[in-house]
Amino acid sequence: MKGLVCLLLLLETFVCVVQHQVDGGLNENEISQQLRAESEHQRTDRHRYRAENEHQRITEQKVNIRELTATVTEQKTINRELTANIRALETRLREEMNKKNDEMSNLTLSQVEELRKENRDREIAFSASLMQSSSGHIGPFTSDFTLNYRNVFTNIGNAYNPVTGVFTAPLKGAYMFRVSVFSHGPTPSAASIYKNGERLVMAYAHQPQRELNSSNGVVLILEVGDVVYVRLWANTRIYDNQYNHSTFSGFLLFPLREQELCRM
Ligand SMILES: *[C@@H]1O[C@H](CO)[C@@H](O)[C@H](O)[C@H]1NC(C)=O
Ligand SMILES: *[C@@H]1O[C@H](CO)[C@@H](O)[C@H](O)[C@H]1NC(C)=O
Ligand SMILES: *[C@@H]1O[C@H](CO)[C@@H](O)[C@H](O)[C@H]1NC(C)=O
Repeated sequence: MKGLVCLLLLLETFVCVVQHQVDGGLNENEISQQLRAESEHQRTDRHRYRAENEHQRITEQKVNIRELTATVTEQKTINRELTANIRALETRLREEMNKKNDEMSNLTLSQVEELRKENRDREIAFSASLMQSSSGHIGPFTSDFTLNYRNVFTNIGNAYNPVTGVFTAPLKGAYMFRVSVFSHGPTPSAASIYKNGERLVMAYAHQPQRELNSSNGVVLILEVGDVVYVRLWANTRIYDNQYNHSTFSGFLLFPLREQELCRM
């Protein structure tokens, strides 16, 4: 009897357990269905997630494009302004250049005028022979004698005075002078170029008979007002005729300024 009760209890427990399993658990079909649904759900979630991402990306791109468009528009405005500025600058530059050209040509013109004037000042050259129409000897004298070269070939700048035979420097500079003597023996012929009373170079010829001739030349630095002339030596003579044998010449090589004179 006690054993039977135990068996009954055991059986009841078993039924309970089975019942419980049937009620609360899931069968195989339900499980696979549930699994499928879940994976479906997950896929949908992924899709949604992806779609959301895509949407966000597109939104961002749209924003980017809007910003780009704005930037391009802005850039266009800036470009227009720049172009306008460049045009204005070009116009102004052209105007300035034209003005400068005008000034330059004006300057050039005035400079040319200045140079012409300066060159006129620099045009200094003379050349003369002793006798105008007569012929014969001058000298000998007992003392030195200043020669007047009266037959003037050239006297540009009028620095040479044919009445006195004296050249007066009109401006500071380097000058070249030359003297040629001609005569007949046996009396010697000797003439020197002088600067401000100082004897510098001599043309000298001496032989017992026939023609005598000699010449000499010198480059001098002259200050304004310095004088240059030729003096016949005492006890010598010089000859000239229409052939212009005996001459005195001089010309400015180039002008000198104060500092250039100091350098010497
Ligand atoms: C150039 O000279 C002309 C005439 O002498 C004058 O009318 C003009 O204004 C000058 N130009 C300049 C830029 O100085
Ligand atoms: C110049 O003098 C030299 C001698 O000193 C002589 O030989 C020559 O013939 C002279 N010339 C003239 C043109 O007198
Ligand atoms: C001497 O000079 C004069 C100019 O003053 C010239 O006419 C003449 O022909 C010259 N004489 C000779 C022979 O060269």
